[in-house]
Amino acid sequence: MNALHRRYHIVTFGCQMNKADSERMAGILEGMGFEWADAPETADLILYNTCTIRDNAEQKVYSYLGRQAWRKHQEPNLTLVVAGCVAQQEGEALLRRVPELDLVMGPQHANRLQDLLEQVFNGNQVVATDAAHILEDITQPRRDSTVTAWVNVIYGCNERCTYCVVPNVRGVEQSRTPEAIRAEMVELGQQGYKEVTLLGQNIDAYGRDLPGVTAEGRHQHTLTDLLYFVHDVAGIDRLRFSTSHPRYFTERLIRACAELPKVCEHFHIPFQSGDNDILKAMGRGYTHEKYRSIIDLIRHYMPDASITADAIAGFPGETELQFERTLKLIEEIGFDLVNTAAYSPRPGTPAALWQNQLSEDVKSDRLQRLNHRVSTTAMARSRRYLGRTEAVLVEAQNLKDPTQVMGRTSGNRLTFFPGDIADFKGQIVPIKITDFRAFSLTGILTTD
Ligand code: SAH
Ligand code: SF4
Ligand code: F3S
Repeated sequence: MNALHRRYHIVTFGCQMNKADSERMAGILEGMGFEWADAPETADLILYNTCTIRDNAEQKVYSYLGRQAWRKHQEPNLTLVVAGCVAQQEGEALLRRVPELDLVMGPQHANRLQDLLEQVFNGNQVVATDAAHILEDITQPRRDSTVTAWVNVIYGCNERCTYCVVPNVRGVEQSRTPEAIRAEMVELGQQGYKEVTLLGQNIDAYGRDLPGVTAEGRHQHTLTDLLYFVHDVAGIDRLRFSTSHPRYFTERLIRACAELPKVCEHFHIPFQSGDNDILKAMGRGYTHEKYRSIIDLIRHYMPDASITADAIAGFPGETELQFERTLKLIEEIGFDLVNTAAYSPRPGTPAALWQNQLSEDVKSDRLQRLNHRVSTTAMARSRRYLGRTEAVLVEAQNLKDPTQVMGRTSGNRLTFFPGDIADFKGQIVPIKITDFRAFSLTGILTTD
């Protein structure tokens, strides 16, 4: 192997947090002289950035790993890395299961990749899963898009939802400073990026761990303050943030979103269930009435705002009636999109040990009915765009139809229109909507 031409490949599972971490790790690898390889078979280093939110996500990782592990016997110079949430959850146990691995590293260690790989190249098998203070990254991430970018603002989660592994694998909340966030955005603006999505597991909890309180006794650094602080960054025309927790979503934040023109009118606020007893058993800290009042307030200030969410079907003990309350909530709120999942018992979470688990049949039946309700509701929401002119930020060619380009409305609806990406990339253009489906729109460029 020629040390100067080492090639890497990254496979990313899971949420936006993992995608953002992968982009930073790719940046570190390129800084070390590695070049991207499209095919994993031609790479000298393969990194799996893993997810363990549900059992099927975890199993997918093992099937990928198995395929590369045998290769290592023919090519001993191949470096195999498992990063992300399965790495954090399994730690040393992963090495026992797949002894061919060189490095197992939790999400808090993503920025230390170079350091950890140097230990590997010195002949060690390395496990890095201890709780760590997340270092500011000084390397340039290798971002997938040249139009839209993710910027982490808060890592970790301090909630204890009874079904969820995230607090175990991502650790406690760590907010970046407003200055570090702004500096990253200024650079993105200079590089030509047009849209930034601020990221966190509970982004509206931003700043609770930073020092400083105001005269009114609230934290000095909140998401609302951060939006005001970064809003004028030159070149960045659109701002989004995700994921919001209903517990921390304030009227002050809603007013800021209505007032600040760059903040897109799209809010991703998972509700998980429409039944108060299930919400309580989940440890979510709100009722469906509270959730509805947040949405009412958003619509009071921004009547056309898009609302998206996550929901779980078949939580332990969920009765048919309780499940129907989730269906009802979806219809009554009129969500633009809901990410759905059947409940999956996860290691180290309280709900996994409860006796009142539902059968796979019940869970999959409910998931199907949930998905049906989500798509009929989304279809009704898409219909409102018909005949309207929407500002669409163009991101890429439509992979399925090369005569079209693809972008998003402020409300985050995927929108297609005829055109060549060379003419439109990174521009916000007026598109008259001529057709709609549940989760996407089609239109034509207009001068209206
Ligand atoms: N922090 C966000 C969500 C993070 S996890 C929030 O609190 O809303 C993303 C989604 O995965 C969750 O919203 C939930 O719907 C789903 N999820 C998490 N654990 C799950 C489990 N054990 N089974 C099924 N779905 C789960
Ligand atoms: Fe998981 Fe709850 Fe934290 Fe979201 S808030 S990441 S669901 S523990
Ligand atoms: Fe999965 Fe970890 Fe995200 S478990 S959903 S990749 S925080």
